[in-house]
Amino acid sequence: MFPGPLGQSLAGEALARGLWSLEARDIRDHGTGRHRAVDDTPAGGGPGMVMRADVLAASLDATALPGDPRPRLIMTPRGAPFRQARAREWAAGPGLVILCPRFEGVDERLIEARGLSEVSIGDYVLSGGEIAALAILDACVRLIPGVMGKEDSGREESFESGLLEYPQYTRPREWEGRAIPEVLLSGDHAKVAEWRRREAERITKERRFDLRGPAGS
Ligand code: ADE
Repeated sequence: MFPGPLGQSLAGEALARGLWSLEARDIRDHGTGRHRAVDDTPAGGGPGMVMRADVLAASLDATALPGDPRPRLIMTPRGAPFRQARAREWAAGPGLVILCPRFEGVDERLIEARGLSEVSIGDYVLSGGEIAALAILDACVRLIPGVMGKEDSGREESFESGLLEYPQYTRPREWEGRAIPEVLLSGDHAKVAEWRRREAERITKERRFDLRGPAGS
């Protein structure tokens, strides 16, 4: 699954240029028994399987030695919601160690004993943590200096100001009877900035009551 889509385009070119790197580990390398099992039945009964603390710890410990400064994450829908502020923090940091569980869950003792931070990418359930990890890595990698061109890294993006992005337009000036808003063609930079700010606020209010908007608004 790795680097998967991160081997392409912006992230892929940055990977090839050495601006970031990735080491994927197979948990099964530390599995137990003839079948290299990584899971077992849940204590207390019930459906599904639970990933074993000893197996996951062996995999983690082989990846991150004591004193490794990288935050250790575990992907789970019950984790703290992943947000842009976290992407900025992690992109500026020493890297990440990300555990991607499968099956019904992981033995709680592993999370406690290895001080893992539980992270979710949204209120839905994926079949494993890998796609969540790819999403987090993508959001972080594009913020690493040099990954995006100057043009793009200077752009005002959704969430950067606490607002969603204003609408964008390009040529042709009229398409299927729809014209580009007049103010954007006026050449009046102050008016354009004001229009964009108001549109960003309108869209944010309409779609995301939970976003607070810029400080002081
Ligand atoms: N694993 C399964 N669903 C997930 C989610 N929504 N976020 C992070 N990891 C997950």
